Amino acid sequence: MRIITIVGARPQIIKAAALSRVISNNFQNIEEIIVHTGQHYDKNMSDVFFTELEIPKPQINLKVGSSSHGSQTALMIEKIEKVMLEYSPDAVVVYGDTNSTLATAIAASKLHIPIVHIESGLRSFNKKMPEEVNRILCDHVSTLLFSPTKSGFNNLLNEGFSKEYSNNASADHPNIYHCGDVMYDNSLYFSKLSDENSDILEKLKLRNEKFILATVHRNDNTDSEIKLTDLFSTFLEITEIHQLKIILPLHPRTSKMMEQLLDSKLLKKIQESNLLTIINPAGFLDMIALEKNAQLIITDSGGVQKEAYFFKKPCIILRPQTEWVEIVETKSAVISDTNSKIILEATERFLSNPDLEFPGVFGNGNAASFIAQEMLNQFS
Ligand code: UD1
Ligand code: UDP
Repeated sequence: MRIITIVGARPQIIKAAALSRVISNNFQNIEEIIVHTGQHYDKNMSDVFFTELEIPKPQINLKVGSSSHGSQTALMIEKIEKVMLEYSPDAVVVYGDTNSTLATAIAASKLHIPIVHIESGLRSFNKKMPEEVNRILCDHVSTLLFSPTKSGFNNLLNEGFSKEYSNNASADHPNIYHCGDVMYDNSLYFSKLSDENSDILEKLKLRNEKFILATVHRNDNTDSEIKLTDLFSTFLEITEIHQLKIILPLHPRTSKMMEQLLDSKLLKKIQESNLLTIINPAGFLDMIALEKNAQLIITDSGGVQKEAYFFKKPCIILRPQTEWVEIVETKSAVISDTNSKIILEATERFLSNPDLEFPGVFGNGNAASFIAQEMLNQFS
């Protein structure tokens, strides 16, 4: 059986590691061809993950690069179509909700190639998010839909998907599954490797220091002068009130938008701060080390929110809503959007070490094996 896996953005490369690992260890009868759209291309947004997560290098890089949503997606569709025609896979595997996901869904569905959507069913119920549009469209042309959470599975039922299992699923009669999260599989697998190999805590002199980890990259936050200003002013305020470092691995999008949108006085304050520590995008093993040792995580990232939960850390979510509703229901995470008052209050509360619970809602660490087995059942 031959599958093509399409990745493009950082989190997709990381997610793909889980399935690639189980395929090369236990499912040698699946041939996986990895195609990179080139949506992310900086070394520290792409190459670093193939090396340290031991994912086979992509056989094909479509080198699409950055541009507006329309032109980026269109160029991907054209190039992905050519690859599909050349390699005639039995199925194509896509992750999450980026433009690379959407482009694959459009190209493959028109060629009647079954789509396997991993991380399906997640909804923010906010169609102003490009990701919400991408994942809804992808789900509705997919053949196998693997949802990491019960709430994601229920979202699919609410949109009319049937939970009746078919031995011969198709785009018209798709199968939906609640199978756990491949990112949870990864967090278990790479946690030990991070302990053994990451030296980021030494490099940043954090080994015996308390700190907060933050990330920001969602367009809703980076592209608004008001929101970006509120966020960075609040970060500075937190460091001053609590005399605590905030470590912020900076996404290239945010870096560019800070230069464009932030007032020069605020930029200067950020640059001169001894406590707000901006670093380049981190590798995954370093990121895990930072997550495992932080007191608190403040983020608008989907993946980082979940990893906070996997490593039993409180999390403040810099978005108006989240698809990962379970982590908010357990009260280990709070939705703040860019509201400074909520962020400051939640920081105060979480730093006082409240009793928090992190019940297992992301599966048992075997999501990728389940997915590989089910692809074999359906397509070989
Ligand atoms: C994309 C995804 C988002 C995901 C994020 C993960 C879409 C619509 N968005 O957002 O869901 O959370 O990836 O990180 O697909 N850039 C670089 N170097 C790179 C990559 C990007 O400088 O290697 C800069 C470019 O200026 C580019 C901007 O970042 O225009 C945005 O990149 P893009 O891939 O369009 O979207 P992300 O914000 O990264
Ligand atoms: N990540 C990383 N280095 C960083 C920031 C994030 O390795 O500097 C990892 C993070 O641990 C998670 C994934 O990237 O596994 C999340 O990707 P991102 O925040 O870019 O996108 P999202 O999950 O919001 O789509």
